[in-house]
Amino acid sequence: MEIGRGLGAKRMIAGLAYVQLRLARMTEGEELGGLLFELPDPTPANDEVVVKAPALPLWTAAKARLISRYIYLFEMVTHHGTYIDGFAGPQSPELPESWAAEMVLGLKPLWLRHFHLCDAGKPQVRALRELRTRHAGLDITVYPGDFNKRVTEILRPGVLKKEATFCLLDQRTFECTWATVRKLAGFKTGDAADTKIELFYFLAQSWLDRAFSGLGEDGRRLAEAWWGTPEWSHLMQMEAWDRARTFCERFRNELGYKSVKPWAIYASEGGGGRLRETLFA
Ligand SMILES: C[S@@+](CC[C@H](N)C(=O)[O-])C[C@H]1O[C@@H](n2cnc3c(N)ncnc32)[C@H](O)[C@@H]1O
Repeated sequence: MEIGRGLGAKRMIAGLAYVQLRLARMTEGEELGGLLFELPDPTPANDEVVVKAPALPLWTAAKARLISRYIYLFEMVTHHGTYIDGFAGPQSPELPESWAAEMVLGLKPLWLRHFHLCDAGKPQVRALRELRTRHAGLDITVYPGDFNKRVTEILRPGVLKKEATFCLLDQRTFECTWATVRKLAGFKTGDAADTKIELFYFLAQSWLDRAFSGLGEDGRRLAEAWWGTPEWSHLMQMEAWDRARTFCERFRNELGYKSVKPWAIYASEGGGGRLRETLFA
């Protein structure tokens, strides 16, 4: 990995682990301006850093803020970086502050240098192109179409720079195939051993049972591609947190991530009804 401003690889890893810790301690009232920090001492590469659960439950409207805060802390460590957003179109166009890509591009300072934004929906692609126009000075590429196909165009040495890279996988339910996650996890952004792309993976929870039960033949094929094997049906009997843990283990054991954290995102401020979980790797 090209390490910004002389940071060594271990120091960078420790710094990014600290970003997770810092994010976990965040409270909703905290000002971004107060989050500049000293890097902690490097931790042994094989020890997973213990990260506390978030102080407050997160809810959907805060999702974009969570991501942009994470990116803010990420760039405080890296001083550079690439942002990939596979399912980037706005979910609620009437609420720009709920749009992750918009929030990230609006960060100040913005030290990330390259942005790859994909979406399969026509209105969403239009919105992404307008977003690019509003940020004309930045290196933003918009990819219309299926991220599972277009990801291979991004994961090429000439396209993806040798630098810290973050990828948001904000699927609704089964859109992101396991093969795509595997490709992202297997791509090294630099020469050092620990240069994996950081992933924010959204796992639907509250509507997953309903989604499973209503699957026709095409849907079952989708679920199989999403899980990566025909064994997806065992998830149907699981409690939400067991599913999240199962995914965490896959990220660790199959994909080789040293640190994987589940975060709950709730439907509303009161925490009534869990909407989805996000996994950070
Ligand atoms: C949950 S929304 C994304 C929300 C967005 N990240 C935000 O911050 O508002 C999921 C998006 O994925 C898009 N989508 C669905 N299937 C896709 C695919 N195969 N490849 C790329 N985008 C896809 C949808 O058009 C939709 O915009």
